Amino acid sequence: MAETPITTPIEKVPQHVAMIMDGNGRWALQRGLPRLAGHKAGTENLRRVIRASVEFGVKYLTIYAFSTENWGRPPEEVKGLMYILEDVIDRELNELHKEGVQLRHIGRLERLAPSLQEKVLDAIDVTKNNDRLILNIAFNYGGRDEIVQAIQRMMKDEVPPEKVTDELVSQYLYTAGVPDPDLIIRTSGELRVSNFLIWQAAYSEWYITPTYWPDFDKEEYRRALESYAHRDRRYGKVSSGELQGSNA
Ligand code: IPE
Ligand code: IPE
Ligand code: MG
Repeated sequence: MAETPITTPIEKVPQHVAMIMDGNGRWALQRGLPRLAGHKAGTENLRRVIRASVEFGVKYLTIYAFSTENWGRPPEEVKGLMYILEDVIDRELNELHKEGVQLRHIGRLERLAPSLQEKVLDAIDVTKNNDRLILNIAFNYGGRDEIVQAIQRMMKDEVPPEKVTDELVSQYLYTAGVPDPDLIIRTSGELRVSNFLIWQAAYSEWYITPTYWPDFDKEEYRRALESYAHRDRRYGKVSSGELQGSNA
């Protein structure tokens, strides 16, 4: 399908966009297809979204692909999702590398099959010097698990309590060195965080759409970015416009 050309530039492109790619199952159900067909369609869409991110000038893209809770799904679905990750790496790595995408993983690798772990580590290594887009894949990721691990590592390092600061905690997370997400997009209309980036999302802006993930296209992505560009991020303070208008 032909890509829609970008007409006007987007103002204030977020540096870091995170996405909860939800609704694959319902997308498939709607069409009388098995859930895995939805995951496959979702993966196709991910390729488009990655490319659009590069085009829009997003620097960091974090995608939620498999949560620590998703192990509770039927074994065939879990197996299928593992296979999809493997297949994506096999089929897309070269192209992503050529486009300057750096792959990273957030979450726990231990529970994945050793061959898949190796594949992920190899993809990370191959792309480590790319800097056009940093693509963080959250796979076997849980926000609470991430925080628990950070606390465990801080204790192992014997960090004195008074040294535990906001910044230090951030450095112990998987996302160390990555700016917090400016915008989080959740498809399929669910109004919940589902254990995604619970620390990092403290002041993220949200864009929630009823569109199922396989149908979340470049046009809607663009609308999400435009919506973001018009937000007033106050971080608990008052807006600068209001301050200028007052005698303060
Ligand atoms: C999101 O789609 C993909 C994963 C969680 C792996 P779902 O599989 O959750 O789709 P729904 O929410 O059941 O429609
Ligand atoms: C969140 O979606 C996880 C991913 C998109 C990988 P879920 O479908 O697992 O979330 P819940 O169960 O609706 O909260
Ligand atoms: Mg879901």
